[in-house]
Amino acid sequence: MNLPGLIDVHTHLRVPGGEHKEDFATGTAAALAGGITMVLGMPNTSPPLSTPEALEAARAQAQADARCDVGLFAGASPEQIAYLPELARHAIALKIYLNDTFGPLRVEDVPTLRACFQTWPRHKMIAMHAEKQSVAVGIGLAAAYDRPVHFCHISRREEIELIADAKMRGLPVTCEVTPHHLFLTEADAVRLGPLGDMRPVLGTADDVAALWERLNDTIDCIATDHAPHTLAEKHSANAPPGVPGLETSLALMLTAVTQNRLTLARLIELMHTNPRRIYNLPEQPDTQVEVEMMPTAINQEIMHSKCGWTPFAGMTVNGRVRRVALRGAVVYEDGEVLAAPGSGRVISMSDE
Ligand code: NCD
Ligand code: ZN
Repeated sequence: MNLPGLIDVHTHLRVPGGEHKEDFATGTAAALAGGITMVLGMPNTSPPLSTPEALEAARAQAQADARCDVGLFAGASPEQIAYLPELARHAIALKIYLNDTFGPLRVEDVPTLRACFQTWPRHKMIAMHAEKQSVAVGIGLAAAYDRPVHFCHISRREEIELIADAKMRGLPVTCEVTPHHLFLTEADAVRLGPLGDMRPVLGTADDVAALWERLNDTIDCIATDHAPHTLAEKHSANAPPGVPGLETSLALMLTAVTQNRLTLARLIELMHTNPRRIYNLPEQPDTQVEVEMMPTAINQEIMHSKCGWTPFAGMTVNGRVRRVALRGAVVYEDGEVLAAPGSGRVISMSDE
């Protein structure tokens, strides 16, 4: 069975400054192994992608190393707000972190938020890390400036219901959820210890039920929030939050299809059509993902991500990626990544 090339709108590729966790070559290899042919890289690198220099250097490195197509977010930072117009030229979208997570990027003041909403070009998305009442802040800004806002990794009942209310009133908001927030709960966080710790944290059984209830109407995308850290870091005293996801996301969602929790057509909307529409991304011609619906144990030994672990290790899923073609070339087949570093494209959008 063939699917279109999937798009992950929330990937951490760790360049610059975190190359021991992941780099463009390994992160995009992991993407292809997971049936993903385009990723949008997050800006919470070290230094963050909040200056034109950092963004341009990361784009050049991506062009040298990436095996699938990559777009990069710019990060909003109160000290670097003057760079927004220049950042907008080459970033796919702007990311605003309203809540605590890995990395220094944070926006906690209204003047910076106003500057972002007044300056960032209207045809490019503003994405937000917003939890609990921060979701209301994002909805308020979407209404005040009458422009689209995309909410990253929504994980709680109260958040998804608030977004459903906003959509009912016609406000231009969209949202993504991650497979780990659909398949794991706070009970798994206890079992997994640091390997089950991420932002937002895993929810209650009721939060998870709410996400499944809203998968067919309110939720727009499945995104991985692939956030690799080394095992040594995860087992250290100040363990960073985040879990990898590029290589398990499609298999988990195919499993949900076999369990009749969503249709295959809906999976394609959530992992291809809507991501492309929301972020205004280019088409990838002659690009397909061939999948087989068969029981498969998730094996972290054969993964392509540098981090080498997954919170889903040992779980049996009902689907696997057999072959991926990108622009007519076979780039992945039966466990082997065939695309060379640099064969992916760095995508940007014109100024309208
Ligand atoms: C992410 C990371 O490690 O960069 N961690 C996480 O727990 N999700 C940051 C983020 O997306 O919030
Ligand atoms: Zn993230």
